[in-house]
Amino acid sequence: MSEPDTILNLFTRTRRRFPALNGSSVGEKYLYLNSGAGSLMVDSALQAINSAASSLNPMPGEVTPVEKQTFQFHNQVRKMVAEFIGASSLEEISFHFSTTNALFNLAFSLGSVFKPGQNCLVTDLDHFANISPWETVAASLGAEIRTVRLNPDLTLNRLDLLDKLDANTVMVAVTAASNALGTILPLTDLISEIKEKSRALVVVDAVHLAPHSPIDVREIGCDFLAFSGYKIFGPMVGILFSRKEVLSQVTPYRVETNRNSPPYFWEQGMLPNINLAGLKGALDYLFELGQIVVKKDPSATPPKVFRRAMEAIKKYEQSLSLYFLERLKKLNSSRLRLYGINNSSKVVSRTPTFAIEISGLNPTELKKLFWETGRIVIADGNHYSAAVVRHLKKQALNRVSLAHYDSPESIDLFFESLEKIIFFNRHYS
Ligand SMILES: Cc1ncc(COP(=O)(O)O)c(C=O)c1O
Repeated sequence: MSEPDTILNLFTRTRRRFPALNGSSVGEKYLYLNSGAGSLMVDSALQAINSAASSLNPMPGEVTPVEKQTFQFHNQVRKMVAEFIGASSLEEISFHFSTTNALFNLAFSLGSVFKPGQNCLVTDLDHFANISPWETVAASLGAEIRTVRLNPDLTLNRLDLLDKLDANTVMVAVTAASNALGTILPLTDLISEIKEKSRALVVVDAVHLAPHSPIDVREIGCDFLAFSGYKIFGPMVGILFSRKEVLSQVTPYRVETNRNSPPYFWEQGMLPNINLAGLKGALDYLFELGQIVVKKDPSATPPKVFRRAMEAIKKYEQSLSLYFLERLKKLNSSRLRLYGINNSSKVVSRTPTFAIEISGLNPTELKKLFWETGRIVIADGNHYSAAVVRHLKKQALNRVSLAHYDSPESIDLFFESLEKIIFFNRHYS
């Protein structure tokens, strides 16, 4: 069997692990092409949530077996997250309500870093979760906010970034991949250039990249990185990586009685055990996937197993992206426009997330037509990536976003509806 067949078979098998693919909460089956807004939950996450809700002691502690169990459970989840992103220790991993909440916590914790005369860089390719915390907190402390613009092909303008960076830049906030367009940034190279030219802390929003690609925080060279459990097949929980070498620069907002050391000092109130159990269930699934890929390789450490799982996902999703772009080309409709990378030879630089527009239809109408024509869920709006939408001088765009539980057949169904909408819909053709 050829390699692509093996990968295709693997992901066809794993579709069974996502119960939402087989049923419907609204009385009829539908096709979910909105994973960019939140992925479907894997069965092991659902089971772990159930079991934690019925058995786990709420409070961690060090005396009774039940509280010790919760303490060990927290460590276990932190360890798995650390292995998933290549962090070197548990103190680098903290849990928050969401990524937005993690980044606001981070912004408040960097109060001593932001001063008049200094500046922070944000980008037009970012979700507002990685813009507003800096535009509000850092700016209120007197730091100047500089916005890095886009190239005509909607990739980040690297030269503009390097131009705006100087000796007074204290922080650069940048996304790992755009949730509006699917564009992946060459972060390792970019951060190495940033670090050569400045002493800025680099904060990466990896929410959109995390379900699509391996992430290695040491390789990327960032100082902070955030992502969310509900985009990686688990429930809502925000995860913040903070490189231990920069932890001395943060002063998180905390209640006096909370432990004043990492990772605890980040965490406000009791941890959401049920969500953490779900996160662990989702990571267990990715780990199992990695074990299938590495087969019986005794040299495969947990970080390597995760990496191999995510590499397999990435490769499979690239084949989905290629197929999507191919079908789009064949459709050859002057009414349809794709924003972002549309060149098949650059498919490695994108996730299977596609921003589209059909002339004559506003995004909400188009979203409605997809539901009516094919029971397909796509997104409309700015997806909180409002800067790129504003850059295009638009109010909103449609977004079709796939994950590894989708298949070429999902794409066929999408194009079947798209063709009907473009060519046959009596209102708009
Ligand atoms: C790229 C990106 N960053 C940040 C966020 C915000 O994440 P959360 O909902 O966990 O705050 C999202 C959510 O869609 C996102 O796509």
